Formats: sequence, structure tokens, C-alpha cells
Amino acid sequence: MNIVLLGSPGVGKGTYAKKLSEIYKIPQISTGDMFREAIKNKTKIGLKAKEYIDKGGLVPDNVTIGIVEERLKKDDCKNGFMLDGFPRTIAQADALSDIINIDKVLDFTASEEIIIDRLSGRRICKSCGTIYHIRNIIPKVKGVCDKCGGKVYQREDDKPESVKKRLDVYKKQTEPLIEYYTKKGILRSINADWPIEQVDNVIADARKALEE
Ligand code: AP5
Repeated sequence: MNIVLLGSPGVGKGTYAKKLSEIYKIPQISTGDMFREAIKNKTKIGLKAKEYIDKGGLVPDNVTIGIVEERLKKDDCKNGFMLDGFPRTIAQADALSDIINIDKVLDFTASEEIIIDRLSGRRICKSCGTIYHIRNIIPKVKGVCDKCGGKVYQREDDKPESVKKRLDVYKKQTEPLIEYYTKKGILRSINADWPIEQVDNVIADARKALEE
């Protein structure tokens, strides 16, 4: 199954994508993770992407579409994939539909208050990308990843100035995709307002929507 995950920055797409990709045994393809990896490795794409990401803007469509197109050619996508953070503009959605058919789009929703709390409290592992939160998901040793021992840090774009810009950009450029995919009849809305202890409720609703 070819799946797209939509939803505001911080709604929990990365958290849910990791769980769903284990259940369905299909890869999670996060453009945000791909850019962060490229930034870490100081590649040409990484250096370009960093200019936009740190300020909370979107990386230009031509760069983003190119890396997704290449990624979808890999063997592990033959039985399906889960796109997390792509498409984010109508131009990206049009380009995706020229490349491959999408079966389902899950749109995760939560209140703005919850989203801001999730973003400002998020910490991630620099090495393996495991997601933590300063109050809800705390590493056993402060600043050290439970899984790999890597450094747990706050993303530059989770600082208040960038968060505000990201939420504005989401409303202007990404929210129109809800109507775009609703018109195609493949969008399902999933309530993600649950606290982290009840994250299984979000996953159960997502599974119902994918399997209906
Ligand atoms: P990206 O990494 O995709 O960022 P994002 O969409 O802004 O999404 P986030 O990673 O911020 O949030 P999430 O929804 O995955 O939440 P998470 O699971 O971490 O992109 C970063 C940047 O790259 C973009 O701003 C842009 O510049 C660029 N980019 C990427 N794709 C692009 C594209 N297609 N086009 C152009 N540019 C692109 O959860 C958040 C926190 O909440 C965590 O701490 C988590 O533990 C906690 N949490 C999650 N679920 C729950 C819950 N149910 N209850 C309580 N806490 C929870």
C-alpha cells in the first residue's frame, strides 16, 4: 500500500509513521529526516536545505521532488511505502501523482495548543533519530539516547521563532492538500489529540482507516 501522512508540524507524524511502518513492513520515507541526514553529511543538497529549514521555510519543490523520486525507485518500496512530510505543496502532490499512485492519505489532527507543546518539548537523537519529549518521553540518562547512546538535542527549527513560521507555512502551503486529497476520495482524518500514553488509540484508528 502506498500511503501519505499529512498533518501539521509536530502533530506526531514521525511517531506514528515509525509504528505503522513496523506493522505494515513498509519503509517510512521522511523528507525531513533525509534533509537532516544530508545536512549532517554536509552534502550539496544538505547545505542548500539548511538555509530554508533553520528558518522554518520549505525547501524548494524541485530539490524535494528530486530526492523523493530517487528514493521511491529503491527496491524496498516495491511493496509500498509511507511518505512522512511529503507532499507539502500542491506542486509536490501533482509531481507525486505523475510518479506513482497513492492509495490512502491519513491526515492527523490536533489542537494548536497541543501542537506547540509537542514541538517546543521535542528532543531527538542526533544519531538514530529516536523522538523524545521533555515531559512525556524522557531518556533514562539526560541528553543520551536510550537506543543508541547518541546525543539527544533540540532541533534548530523547534525553537520558538521557527515554530511560528513553520505553522504559518503549513497553513498557507500544506493545508490546501486536505481538499486536494478529499476530492480524490482517498483522505481519512485521524484524531491525534490523545496523550502519549494513549498513542495506541491513534495507531488503531489509522489501521482502521488503512484497512477499510
Ligand atoms: P519535518 O522533519 O518533516 O518536520 P515537520 O513536518 O515539521 O514535522 P515534525 O518532524 O516537526 O513533526 P511530526 O509531526 O513528525 O511530530 P513528531 O512525531 O516528531 O521537516 C523539517 C523541515 O524540512 C521542514 O520545516 C522543511 O523546511 C523541510 N521539508 C521537509 N519536507 C519537505 C517538503 N516536502 N517540502 C519542502 N520542505 C520540506 O512528534 C512531535 C513531538 O510530540 C515529539 O516530542 C513526540 O514525542 C510528541 N508526540 C507525538 N505524538 C504524541 C502524542 N500522541 N501525545 C503526546 N506527545 C506526542
